[in-house]
Amino acid sequence: MKHFDQRVAVITGAAAGFGKAFADMGAQLGMKLVLADIQGEALDAVVADFNARGVQAIGLRTDVSRSEQVQALADAAMARFGRVDLLFNNAGVGAGGLVWENSEQDWDWVLGVNLHSVIHGVRIFTPLMLAAAAQDPGYEGHIVNTASMSGLLNAPAMGVYSVSKHAVVSLSETLHHDLGLVTEQVRCSVLCPYFVATGFQLSNTAPPTRSQQIAQAQSGKAVGSAKVSAAQIAQLTFDAIRDQSFYIYSHPEAMAPVQARFEAIMNRRNPGDPFAGTGVTGGRQKLIDALRG
Ligand SMILES: NC(=O)c1ccc[n+]([C@@H]2O[C@H](COP(=O)([O-])OP(=O)(O)OC[C@H]3O[C@@H](n4cnc5c(N)ncnc54)[C@H](O)[C@@H]3O)[C@@H](O)[C@H]2O)c1
Repeated sequence: MKHFDQRVAVITGAAAGFGKAFADMGAQLGMKLVLADIQGEALDAVVADFNARGVQAIGLRTDVSRSEQVQALADAAMARFGRVDLLFNNAGVGAGGLVWENSEQDWDWVLGVNLHSVIHGVRIFTPLMLAAAAQDPGYEGHIVNTASMSGLLNAPAMGVYSVSKHAVVSLSETLHHDLGLVTEQVRCSVLCPYFVATGFQLSNTAPPTRSQQIAQAQSGKAVGSAKVSAAQIAQLTFDAIRDQSFYIYSHPEAMAPVQARFEAIMNRRNPGDPFAGTGVTGGRQKLIDALRG
């Protein structure tokens, strides 16, 4: 996708973090915005701010895990602007802790927000984009699914989150292949950031166990002290959209354990330390010390 001015971006999780940064960058490029978030008041404030600056933006309080609410989002976008050019399936949550301690509600919540939202977004928005492409040879559409490095690595005490993000990478790769069967005009990317400074927090649906508290603290520290900003993620992502790049990575140092993981798979070695070489050294040992200490 090369043209953004007057095009329409739909962004989930737009009240904060990456979603807000995508909206800021879209607005700078002259896009019209359809913003969704479960936090209605925060979303209203973001939309009011854009409107005050002359940006054409609407907001819809949306729980992206609910298919009828994602459908309502698509309906609202079409009713207001008559087209959707760029979709960010971005809203996400996380639960941590030893994988056998995660409740059924943790699984339902995280898979609902992180995976089912993307399933709904792809199922509901892709046909709108394909119909626009069929009508107009100049139409360019793009879908960005926010996964994580947790979609390529399996850190300890992050199982629910990693399962959800691996599934988003899988769905996105399949979407890439399937779109390629039918069109050149609609593309997709998968965003796999490492730790980025946002308000993102692991939490659990019941009072946390000790392992969950430790995972929350460790992840909170990594996110809180991250050197990469949401604005940088937005820049990388829009660059990838322009370049038609599928994989979007934020931290080159996080690629070493990805390579090691695939080499272990190829060579039938047991999984190694997923933090090795990332700068989060000692991450695994700190968990062991905290759990056994
Ligand atoms: N920050 C990081 O280090 C990091 C790293 C890798 C991936 N990610 C992923 O990036 C995405 C954005 O996270 P962020 O860092 O901006 O976090 P954030 O918590 O700052 O923003 C997430 C937004 O999603 C919204 N949201 C949560 N549940 C929702 C629901 N059911 N329906 C609609 N909106 C909902 C929240 O209200 C919030 O505004 C997530 O998918 C996250 O998993 C973040």
